[in-house]
This record gives sequence, C-alpha cells and structure tokens, in this order.
Amino acid sequence: MALLSILRYPDPRLHTVARPVDQVDDRIRRLVDDMVETMYEAEGVGLAATQVDVHERVIVMDTSDSRDKPLVLINPELVARSEDMNQVEEGCLSVPTIYDKVRRHARVAVRALGRDGQVFEREASGLTSVCIQHEMDHLMGKVFVEYLSPFKRDRIRSRMLKKAREDKSPA
Ligand code: NI
Repeated sequence: MALLSILRYPDPRLHTVARPVDQVDDRIRRLVDDMVETMYEAEGVGLAATQVDVHERVIVMDTSDSRDKPLVLINPELVARSEDMNQVEEGCLSVPTIYDKVRRHARVAVRALGRDGQVFEREASGLTSVCIQHEMDHLMGKVFVEYLSPFKRDRIRSRMLKKAREDKSPA
C-alpha cells in the first residue's frame, strides 16, 4: 500500500468530472486500498479519487468512531434523497483548516459496487449521509466551498494560495 498525495483547493484538477469504473480489477482494488490508507493517515472521514488526481468514480469513507469500518463506493448513484434537509459543518482534506455549513439531504440511499465488485444498496443518515453527498460532489468536480458565498469562497481561495506559498518556501 502507498500514501497518495491529496490535491489542495484551488487546484483546477479538483474540478475534473470522474468517469465510471469499467471493471473492479486489481488496479482498482489497489487504488481503493491506497485511498483508505491515505484517508486514515490524514485523519479524514472520506476521500474521493478526484482528490488524489485519479478521475474515476471511487470513494472511500469511514464515519465510525473506531475508525475500522471503511466503506467503499465504486460508481455510486443516489437512489433516494429525503425531502428534509440538514445543515452541518463540513471540512475537506483538500481544503484544510476550513469548516463551514452546507445544506444537504438529511438521508440518502446509495447504490454502488463494493471492493469485491458486488452491487449493494445502503441507506444513510447523519454524518454518513453528509459524507456520501460531499464525496459524490467531488466526483462531479465540486468542492464544498463552492456552496458558500462568493465572498467567503474568494477569502478561502486567497488563504489556501497563501498557505501553499508558505508551505513551499523554506522555514
Ligand atoms: Ni472533501
């Protein structure tokens, strides 16, 4: 397994629309395993392949407290969305240190392939529901800060660019 590097907002590659996975083969299983390792290392609850610059419809997440229940969603599709909405504070490994509230469906049902290539359906609420919607946005090239006001987004963009410059220059 290997740690993958995570793209940081406002990297334009984060706006790439991912294509469906043709076949869950060794290459995809390796990608899934590397993404799971990368997510745990970065202490995130979810990671989309888009964030590691692989533009295929693959998501990993783990919203458990024990951090030992990875959920793998390959070619995910929402098959149901609740009418009631929730507004919960979100963060993103591609936008470190930034947290803000986004309106999401309170509950969703997702259909996807697992790491074993088998199709399954799952209903989710709470953090898992938020996470599924957040990660599926990544696969469409959308980062959560794009739900915020243009003013906030510009401020975040400047802050991220400044941080990238600081990270690059020697201490
Ligand atoms: Ni994210």
